[in-house]
Amino acid sequence: MRILITAGPTREYLDDVRYISNASSGRMGYAIAAAIRESGHEAVLVSGPVDLAAPTGCELHPVETTADMRDACVKLFPDCDGVIAAAAVCDYKPRSRIVGKIAKTGDPIAIEMIETDDVLAEIGGGKDGRWVVGFALEAENPRENALQKLRAKNCDYIVLNSPEAIGSDSNSVELIDATGSAAATWSGSKQEVARALIQWIETHLAGERPV
Ligand code: CTP
Repeated sequence: MRILITAGPTREYLDDVRYISNASSGRMGYAIAAAIRESGHEAVLVSGPVDLAAPTGCELHPVETTADMRDACVKLFPDCDGVIAAAAVCDYKPRSRIVGKIAKTGDPIAIEMIETDDVLAEIGGGKDGRWVVGFALEAENPRENALQKLRAKNCDYIVLNSPEAIGSDSNSVELIDATGSAAATWSGSKQEVARALIQWIETHLAGERPV
C-alpha cells in the first residue's frame, strides 16, 4: 500500500515574523509513518513543523500553513490507497497576513480570524474508493463528536483520542466506525498504538487501489 499521513501542527501567520499554532509534537503521525515503513508499505508524510526526523524511507513533504498542507494532500492523495490524518491543523487563521511586522501602538489590537481549509474534509470528499482514517481530539461527548466528524469529513474510521495525548509519549484510543461503535481500542506508547492501527488497516482496509 501507499499511504498518505498528515502530521504535526500547522502555522498561520499574522505578519512575516509571528504566527498562531498549537502544541502538537507530531509524534503520533511520525510513529504511524514508521509503522507503515516497518510493515513494508510506502509512507507519504505531509508534515507541519516538528522537531523530529522523518522515519527512514518515508517520502517527506514539509509544509507550514494549512493551505500548504491542503495543496500537498490534494496533489498526493490520488496516487495513494488511503490517508491517515493525524495532523493538528489550525482551525482559524488571520483574515490577512500583514507584510513586514506589526508595530506596537500602545493600544489593544484586534485580529479578525477566519476558518482555514479543512484538509481532511476536502480529500475525504473526493476519496473515490480510497480509504480515509481521521483523528478526533475530543474533550466532551467524545463518541458523538467523533461520529459527527467522521460523517462531515467522509471518513471510513476515526481514531478518537483525548487532549491528554497532546505532547505525551503514550496514547489511549478507540477506533470509531460509521455506526459510532468502537471497532477496536488500543493503548500504550504511540509506537504501539501506531503498529496496532497499521495491522488493523492491513486486515480490514487493504485492497486494490482504484484506477
Ligand atoms: N483536520 C483537517 N483540517 C482542518 C481541521 C482538522 O484535516 N482544518 C483533520 C485533523 O487532522 C483530524 C480531523 O480533521 O484528522 C479532526 O480534527 P479535530 O481538530 O479533532 O476537529 P476539527 O474538525 O478541527 O473540529 P473542532 O476543532 O471544532 O473539534
